[in-house]
Amino acid sequence: MNRNILLKWLNWFYTLEMSQVELYLNQAKQSNDTYLTGVLLNMAETETKHAKSIKEIIIKLDSQPMLVDKLLSQIIGLLPAQLFSIIGEYNLLWYNFTLESIAIHDYRFFLSFLDINSKIERELAVVLLNNMIEEDLHRHWFKGQWDSFKRNK
Ligand SMILES: [Fe+2]
Ligand SMILES: [Fe+2]
Repeated sequence: MNRNILLKWLNWFYTLEMSQVELYLNQAKQSNDTYLTGVLLNMAETETKHAKSIKEIIIKLDSQPMLVDKLLSQIIGLLPAQLFSIIGEYNLLWYNFTLESIAIHDYRFFLSFLDINSKIERELAVVLLNNMIEEDLHRHWFKGQWDSFKRNK
């Protein structure tokens, strides 16, 4: 893949991961539910690891990670400090589920374009696949919580 296109994609994923870190940390701060707080902090840690793994590849490509402002503001700009109390846990679970689903979709799409004959792209594929698996676990958790919230309402 052309280096510039590769870097554009990587910065996109880097921004997505960094946005999720910010989002989950903010949500954890505002949550009164100890278990949910614990899960969000755990996920924020995983997203930090994802961002770091992507940053390392960007650096290997002799570049520096850049945040895509538009994406960042789309994800967290909508989220004022008191968002939790405004949208409630039900919608929060759904929002996070949607975000994780977008991440999985984009990872899967990008993975299908990687050239396994290129060493760096092969290495990248391993990193992205691992990130994608963890997003999938997150997605299922949010969906499960959302479903039981719905049932108990
Ligand atoms: Fe992630
Ligand atoms: Fe995730």
